[in-house]
Amino acid sequence: MSYPPASARASAVEPFFVMQILARARELEAAGRDIVHMEIGEPDFVTPEPVLRAARAAIDAGKTHYTPATGLPELREAIAGYYATRFGVQVAPGQVVVTPGSSGALQLVLAALVDPGDGVLLSDPGYPCNRHLIRLAGGEAIALPVGLEEGFQPTASQVEAALGPRARVLLVASPANPTGTLIGPARLGSLLEAVRRHRGALVADEIYQGLVYGDSPGTALALGGDDVLVVNSFSKFFGMTGWRVGWVVAPHDLVPVLDRLAQNLFLAAPTVSQHAALAAFAPETLAILEQRRQVFRERRNYLAGALSALGFEVAARPDGAFYLYADCTRFTEDSFALSEALLEEAGVAVTPGRDFGRHGAQRYLRFAYTTSLDRLREGMMRIAGFLGGAGA
Ligand SMILES: Cc1ncc(COP(=O)(O)O)c(C=O)c1O
Repeated sequence: MSYPPASARASAVEPFFVMQILARARELEAAGRDIVHMEIGEPDFVTPEPVLRAARAAIDAGKTHYTPATGLPELREAIAGYYATRFGVQVAPGQVVVTPGSSGALQLVLAALVDPGDGVLLSDPGYPCNRHLIRLAGGEAIALPVGLEEGFQPTASQVEAALGPRARVLLVASPANPTGTLIGPARLGSLLEAVRRHRGALVADEIYQGLVYGDSPGTALALGGDDVLVVNSFSKFFGMTGWRVGWVVAPHDLVPVLDRLAQNLFLAAPTVSQHAALAAFAPETLAILEQRRQVFRERRNYLAGALSALGFEVAARPDGAFYLYADCTRFTEDSFALSEALLEEAGVAVTPGRDFGRHGAQRYLRFAYTTSLDRLREGMMRIAGFLGGAGA
């Protein structure tokens, strides 16, 4: 080897196990097998037409140069306006920083808040990239094990016990990936109180906020205070995963820091995508997104019932996102092996729990309802056949 080995930090970043499943699914498909995909974490719908039109117009008008690092001023205003009209929360456009997806937003926020050796609290199971981003920022991920009993979200007492002088940031997601569970306003309030007692910060990832099926969605920004940061994205609810646009809402004082980091890390989010995103809040687009939300709700209801009928135990109140986290201990002690067997024998691809952490991971599978009801039904029939059950 003529170059130095990869850094220790980089080497510690793990791949997603689901990528192995996906690669094997593609191989099987290439060999002529039909696979039902329930592993994919993005909407099956294409980006709404008004957004596509806005992108075409931006290209035709030659809008191909960099924007300011904090984003197009019109888009920052539109995002602030969305908080006012949809949630009744006042956010100044100057508090909004547009980023390359919420992935870019999480990188900025963690780089801004974490010093080497600092701990960041996060739930296990949870979105796997977070612990790697924390480590790349020099910090340490402090996992809070959560299960059915905790509604798969951290409790105030867990947070209180884990916070300390070198661990003052709590990162939560509501709705969460992989469980779809929410943090209600009272619980969020108690988490923030614990964080405040330690003069820390709450970072709320609200990327699945638009995809809530029970109560109307809320935002952590409603709690107020300059210790609350919100990360969001056009990826999931707005159906724009491939465009790479998201945002952070941060306290005023932190914005110059985020600005400098953005200038250095990526200069700006993609320009055409930012112009496209301006159309995401148009009434015409929101009407399309609302129809899609109803479709996701119908799929969730079907899938939750079908999985329960098959003998899986579905996570407490999966009220949002497009995932169900199902306990499969009735069938196996090794959900990774089960995910492989489901693919090979039943032609159904799902994500094993071990992609989302360590706590109870071998008991769970994540089912994404990012495919049509017909395909979900087909998937359930195949799983029923594989398990020797009565069918769904
Ligand atoms: C909880 C959560 N946060 C952040 C992301 C990153 O999404 P994006 O960078 O497309 O906005 C994802 C993607 O799956 C996610 O599930």
